[in-house]
Amino acid sequence: MKKRLTSIIICMALVVSLGCVEASAQEERVQCGFAIALNAEPTDETSVIYNQTHYVPMRTVFERMGAYVFYRERDGMVLALSRDGDMIYHMVGDTVVTVNGEQKVFEKSSVLEEGKTYIPIDMVSAALNPDRILYDDRQLNIQKYMFNNNYHKIIKDVLDACGNDDFYPERFQEYIDYHVEMPEYSIEEVVFRVNLGLDEPFYENVATIQDPYALLVLVNKYFRLPENFEQYNLVNMSREYTVNDGKQYLLAGVAYESYVQMADAAKQDGLSMRVISAYRTEAYQTNLYNNKLRTTGKVNAERYSARPGHSEHQTGLAVDICSTNRAFEYTPEFQWLQEHAHEYGYILRYQKGKEWITGYAYEPWHYRYVGTDAAKRIHEEGVTYEEYYAKCVAASEFR
Ligand code: DAL
Ligand code: ZN
Repeated sequence: MKKRLTSIIICMALVVSLGCVEASAQEERVQCGFAIALNAEPTDETSVIYNQTHYVPMRTVFERMGAYVFYRERDGMVLALSRDGDMIYHMVGDTVVTVNGEQKVFEKSSVLEEGKTYIPIDMVSAALNPDRILYDDRQLNIQKYMFNNNYHKIIKDVLDACGNDDFYPERFQEYIDYHVEMPEYSIEEVVFRVNLGLDEPFYENVATIQDPYALLVLVNKYFRLPENFEQYNLVNMSREYTVNDGKQYLLAGVAYESYVQMADAAKQDGLSMRVISAYRTEAYQTNLYNNKLRTTGKVNAERYSARPGHSEHQTGLAVDICSTNRAFEYTPEFQWLQEHAHEYGYILRYQKGKEWITGYAYEPWHYRYVGTDAAKRIHEEGVTYEEYYAKCVAASEFR
């Protein structure tokens, strides 16, 4: 067949150079094709007519009809996803086209010529459900109303992102859905947001944390601690590390041990790292949140206070240091923490400009204990805990 098409093309070139001739009833005669227009837009392509059958270049026609085409050179396999979501399978040189698993057999096979696959026009009809095919004044016009062509482009973008390290095939449909919803985001952003769960508004579809005692537990507006969760491994902080206002301050054992080392090191540098808030029960957080709501309004309360069950203070792994004033950012204590907190396993949890990821406004005073390995990596990469978690902790759930 390949050989035959070569002769077709040679003949065609001849015919074109001589000017087109009328169809001949004689077998093996080839006419120049029609100029192809797709959705009324002219292309540079022409069809090839052989034995009164129109062959059209497959990739051009399929792609311009909104299909995504994959071609495997090794064996001539064509896989395509049509704009309507149909999966099309075809082997070049074969008379069969399989659409969604259903085989359709044709009289003529497709052919490969100089890297281009030509298929008989009736294969186009079977595969792409065109709305109209018109022959008009030596022009072949194939039309498909592209109501939803954008959807198709989105699928293609998402497919193109398959090679990214962060791409989880299990979330393929979620990436597509979110990309449809937010077309202004690049595919990288879509993948990033879906992986982090940021495709849902805060506090919608909240999941209950399975292992609330884990050191690397992620507590945020998407993940809440089990109802009335209580940390068991708490220690009473020595007064010299707290604001010493007569209240009891508790921290998880590992977090406290490191805090002491950190505060002692800061003291050597002439700084005072006193804790003003440590472990909180769910009931305590409820009060804090409600007070904030009452005194500052909902928008502000949501930016600075976690709802009950959603505060990492409830794990005993978080501390507020020195003050809860934005001015803390300009103190030498803050500078010191910027440089050294990670050495003691602590991270600045709610970074500046990352509210859209963490769900909270910048809190220069709030630190979370995650252990030195995680803290160092987070510090070096300058990422939020959510990003680290999606990449290094939760990734194992998908792979
Ligand atoms: N201020 C932090 C977000 C909390 O309430 O846990
Ligand atoms: Zn805090």
